[in-house]
Amino acid sequence: MLILGIETSCDETAASVVKNGREILSNVVSSSLKYHKKFGGVIPEIATRHHVENIDKVVNCSLYNAGVGTGDIDSVAVTEGPGLVGALVCGNSFAKAMAYSLDVPLVTVDHLKAHVYSAMMRKDAPRFPFIGLVVSGGHTRLYLVKGYDKFIVLGDTLDDAIGEAYDKVAKILGLEYPGGPIIDRIAKKGSRSIRFTCRPIKGSLDFSFSGVKTAVLYHVKGEGCPSTSLGTGRVKGEISNIAASFQESALKVIVNNTLKAMEQHNLKTLVIGGGVSANSRFREMLAREAMFRGLKIFFPPLELCSDNAAMVAGLAYRLQGEGKC
Ligand code: KG4
Ligand code: ZN
Repeated sequence: MLILGIETSCDETAASVVKNGREILSNVVSSSLKYHKKFGGVIPEIATRHHVENIDKVVNCSLYNAGVGTGDIDSVAVTEGPGLVGALVCGNSFAKAMAYSLDVPLVTVDHLKAHVYSAMMRKDAPRFPFIGLVVSGGHTRLYLVKGYDKFIVLGDTLDDAIGEAYDKVAKILGLEYPGGPIIDRIAKKGSRSIRFTCRPIKGSLDFSFSGVKTAVLYHVKGEGCPSTSLGTGRVKGEISNIAASFQESALKVIVNNTLKAMEQHNLKTLVIGGGVSANSRFREMLAREAMFRGLKIFFPPLELCSDNAAMVAGLAYRLQGEGKC
């Protein structure tokens, strides 16, 4: 069965053709990222215009790359949310019109569940139940996952999501948007010695990262470290230390909450998705825990960590199989 997936929840216009929920025949992503850079964050109006202007080209390109025509498509899948409202309206209108004109079913997919599914698109896919973790620009969320559409939220974002915290800390340090990949890179050269407090929420698996972001801001102000330039070698070193220390504090809370959730539910399998799941230090920390505790951890391949439509088409196949459309 061939499913055409469409994703337009934020700044990526994406389309993908996936066979039987796992075999990715095409995966096209057109990002409006470069138009947002100078604002230091995603501007919804710009993202929506990019979707409107590019969605037909992206869909055509994904069909072409897959070597199929519209007549070969069995279903159309689309991200229903969460996301920017104008951006979602564009993708959903396009997908609905396409499904109607081709006379095939339309499957709507939750963006966060699709992120978890991105780590399941492999032969040795994890078995239910497991703990699911989404670490993205908009969410930090822990799930107990019992089936393709049986997700129970165990812990959630209370203020800034982890990706948002990375992006805001990068801005404080005078780095480009999105800051996550840059912090990941420069942190490798830094020391983790600065103590930025990032406390877990007592008696809960929820997440709060606004405090650690503010701690970085005060540290930078207090140190008189210039916030607009990487400047001299000395300052460059300081920025790497701040980046390494910030991510260590924030990621530790995510790792600890996740381990707690696994213990509470007596589960040894963890499935992770979202932009921050590409982070090299995060992968290192979790690999270490997996080794000591005998856990099985499933990450998406790097090209499926950030927003894409392959995960949408893939999950849609499973939902259709369960009669959820
Ligand atoms: O999942 P995603 O593409 O979009 C949302 O659904 O939000 O996540 C984007 C977020 C951004 O905040 C970006 O800075 C972060 O993922 N990110 C990273 C890395 N790559 C992307 N954060 C830390 N380390 C990375 N390597
Ligand atoms: Zn996402």
